[in-house]
Amino acid sequence: MTPNDPLLVDCDTGIDDALALLYLLADPGIDLRAITTVFGNTSAEIAASNTLRVLEHAGRLDIPTAIGADSSLRGTAQLAPHVHGDDGLGNTGLPCPVASPTTEPAAELIVRLARENPGRLHLLAMGPLTNLATAVLLDPELPGLVKHVTIMGGAVHHPGNVTPAAEANIANDPEAARLVLRAGWDVTLVPLDVTMTEVLTEDHRRRMLAGDAPTSRFAAEILEHYLDVYQRDVFGARQAACHDPLAAAIAIGEVCPVLAPIVAVDVDTTDGPARGKTIADTRGQYRGFPAQHGSRVRVALRTDGTFADRLVQRLCGFSSRCLDIA
Ligand code: BDR
Ligand code: CA
Repeated sequence: MTPNDPLLVDCDTGIDDALALLYLLADPGIDLRAITTVFGNTSAEIAASNTLRVLEHAGRLDIPTAIGADSSLRGTAQLAPHVHGDDGLGNTGLPCPVASPTTEPAAELIVRLARENPGRLHLLAMGPLTNLATAVLLDPELPGLVKHVTIMGGAVHHPGNVTPAAEANIANDPEAARLVLRAGWDVTLVPLDVTMTEVLTEDHRRRMLAGDAPTSRFAAEILEHYLDVYQRDVFGARQAACHDPLAAAIAIGEVCPVLAPIVAVDVDTTDGPARGKTIADTRGQYRGFPAQHGSRVRVALRTDGTFADRLVQRLCGFSSRCLDIA
């Protein structure tokens, strides 16, 4: 992404979505034009409220938030209060946001911004891909108008996290994911293979809590619940995956994956045990991943494991910059 490129984030805010948004908002060089919300961690409406809470914290209510799909293309919705809390932000009991979402539906906003910025807009998807798929169905020329799409989702050589085979964002709407991955635009996929290896720990949380920036304390507060859940259900230790923040960092070019071949990727849309599995053709791994004709999906398979420190540093330095601007 070059510094003047506009960015639209589609998300299901969500604890790690909130951390990713704060990470992006902390960089005054990022032209974050709009945020659209989708069901996933919570409902699309609650995700919008949480997004507005984050924007309030960052002093950036000038960025519009639009509500999108509340269920998959098939009409299903499996939310995750057991991971992100009933309010989607770790049951932190935050007051209602003062601002409201825009009335423009998410998919229409995506199409409009792409048409207003032909060949320049970047999309960062951190939730189920229903809004992006709906936008492509609304305007089939959309893939030719968008510069790049970064997606947090999938599991290539790694087990799934909602089923043995599937990662949550893809599992929530496999049909949408397949449509988006086949749409003919340049995509970077950021799967569990890398997001599970970049972890925030209790030490990171303490550092954020001790920071004098209200934003880093907000981040520490919501992270507490996430660490509890990951300790209980995943790692058996007080550490949590950096899913969406890592995808954000890769989208803006601040993290360059050590290994990210361009390969063909498909999604299992059957109703069997592999539903929602991402199937990437990594058979070329022993030959340096020779080019695969027609593929436009770059899959991040390895990063260097140092991202969480950078994330914490950024969030600790954030509020002071934000207050200076205010
Ligand atoms: C993804 O699913 C959601 O719970 C997280 O916010 C992340 O986008 C991880 O599988
Ligand atoms: Ca998410």
